[in-house]
Amino acid sequence: MSDSVPPVTEPSASGEPSANQKPSANREQWSSRLVFVLAATGSAVGLGNIWKFPYITGEFGGGAFVLIYLICIASIGIPIMMAEIMLGRRGRQDPVTTMKRLAKESGHSRAWGLLGWMGVIAGFLILSYYSVIAGWAMAYVPQMASGTFTGLDAQAVNTVFSTLVGSPETLIAWHSLFLIMTMTVVARGVRGGLEKAVTYLMPMLFVLLVILIFYAMGTGHFAVGLSYLFNPDFSKITTEGVLSAMGHAFFTLSLGMGAIMVYGSYLPDNTSIAKAAFAVAFMDTLVALLAGMIIFPIVFANSLEPGAGPGLIFKTLPLAFGQMNYGTFFGTLFFILLVFAAWTSSISLIEPAITWSMKTFQISRIKASVISGILVWLMGLLTVFSFNITSDFTISSIISTRYGEFVILKDATAFDFLDYLTSNIMLPLGGLMIAIYAGWLMKKDYSRDELEISRFWYAIWSILVRYVAPVMVIIVFLNAMGVVAFVRSIMSA
Ligand code: PFF
Repeated sequence: MSDSVPPVTEPSASGEPSANQKPSANREQWSSRLVFVLAATGSAVGLGNIWKFPYITGEFGGGAFVLIYLICIASIGIPIMMAEIMLGRRGRQDPVTTMKRLAKESGHSRAWGLLGWMGVIAGFLILSYYSVIAGWAMAYVPQMASGTFTGLDAQAVNTVFSTLVGSPETLIAWHSLFLIMTMTVVARGVRGGLEKAVTYLMPMLFVLLVILIFYAMGTGHFAVGLSYLFNPDFSKITTEGVLSAMGHAFFTLSLGMGAIMVYGSYLPDNTSIAKAAFAVAFMDTLVALLAGMIIFPIVFANSLEPGAGPGLIFKTLPLAFGQMNYGTFFGTLFFILLVFAAWTSSISLIEPAITWSMKTFQISRIKASVISGILVWLMGLLTVFSFNITSDFTISSIISTRYGEFVILKDATAFDFLDYLTSNIMLPLGGLMIAIYAGWLMKKDYSRDELEISRFWYAIWSILVRYVAPVMVIIVFLNAMGVVAFVRSIMSA
C-alpha cells in the first residue's frame, strides 16, 4: 500500500477517450480486491450504523422499520451498489466526468453528468452535519477517559449530553478538529494511511461491539430489546418511516452520490464486483444490527425513550460503560473507534467533490481539500446552531388531502432538513438514476463484461436493477409526497 495520492490520471488530453476505449490503463488502482472491500466497508460503516440506525429505528417504532430497511438493503441496496461500482470502474473518473463519458459511450445525453453533480453536492451537504456529529463522538473520548460517566444514572448522563450540544463553542471546536482530520487524509489521497486505518480499526470496533452485546445480555432486557428490533408491528409504521428506511439503506451503504463510484474507479479490472458488493453490504448490516442489539436493551433497562432522537447513543452507551467493569477503558476505546469509523466514511463523502474540483478547476488535491474543507466547515455551522442558538427555528411542510394530512417535514431544524433532503431525497434519487442508467441505458455487452457473473445471476441483477429497485424507489417517493393518498382520496370520493 503506498502513501501516495491516487492521481486522477487523464487517459487523453481532453479527458474524453473514444467511445469504445476502456479508459483504465493508466489510473492508479487499489492494491487488491480486499483493499477495495475494506475501503468501501470503511465508507459504509460509520455513524450511519452506530448513531443513526438505532435512533431512527427508535423514532419509527422498531421491528417493522428494521424489516423494511433489510428488504431495501437486499433488493435495492446490493443491486445498486453493484451498478454504482460498475459505472465507476468503467468510467474511471470523478462522478461527473464518468457519467458524461459513459453516456457518450452508449450514445446518450451528456446531461447524465448532472447525476454526478448531484452526488458532489449531496456529499458536501452530508459531510457538513456528519462532521458535527463525529465531533460529539470526539467530545465523548475525554469525557469517558476521565470517568465522567462512572456510576451516573440516566438523568445525569442526559445532562452531560445536553450540556455538550448546548454549547456552540464546544461543538465548533470538535467540528473543526474532525474536519481538519478528514481534509488532511483527503489531501494526501485516499490510499495514504486510510487503508491501514480500516484494516486494523474496523475489526477492533467489531470486537468491542461484541463485548457490548454481552453487557446488553446482562441488562435483563435483552429479549425485550431483540423483540423490539425484530418483531415487526406494522401498525407503527408510517409512510415517512418507509421513506426513511429506504433513505437509510442508501445512506448506510454510501450509495447514490458517487462515493462508491469513485472508489469503484480505482478497482482493478479483474475483481468481482458482485462479491465485493455482497461483502460490504453484509458487514455494514451486521454492524448496524449489532448496534441495535446493544442500544435497545439498555434503553428498556433504564426506562429511556427509544425515540429520543439523535442523542440516543450518547445517552445510552455511557450508561452501559458507567456500570461496566473497566467501563472507562472500554468506553474510551469505543468512542475512539467510532470516530475512526466516521473518519473512514467522511473522506469518501468529500472525495467526489475533490476529484471533480481538481479536474474542473485544474487545481491540486491539496488546494481542493483546503477549499472544500472551509466550505464544509461554514455549512456545518447550520447544524451546530440547530442544537442550541437556532433550535427553535424550525420549518414544517404539510400537505393536506381529503385522505388525510401528509407531514413531509415537521418542526425540522436546519440539521433535520439537511438530513431529510440528502438521505431521503438526494441519495434515493441518485440511486434511481444509477439503476436506470445501468439497467436500461448501458449496453448489455458492457454491463456483462464488467460484472462477469453467470447468466443466471446477471438475469437476477437485471430484474432488480431494471424493475424492482426503480419501481420501489418511485412508489416510496410518490407515497411520501402524498401522491398515492391523493389518488386514493380522489378514487374514493
Ligand atoms: N455510509 C456512511 C455511514 O453509514 O455512516 C455515511 C456515508 C458515507 C453516506 C459516504 C454516503 C457516502 F457517500
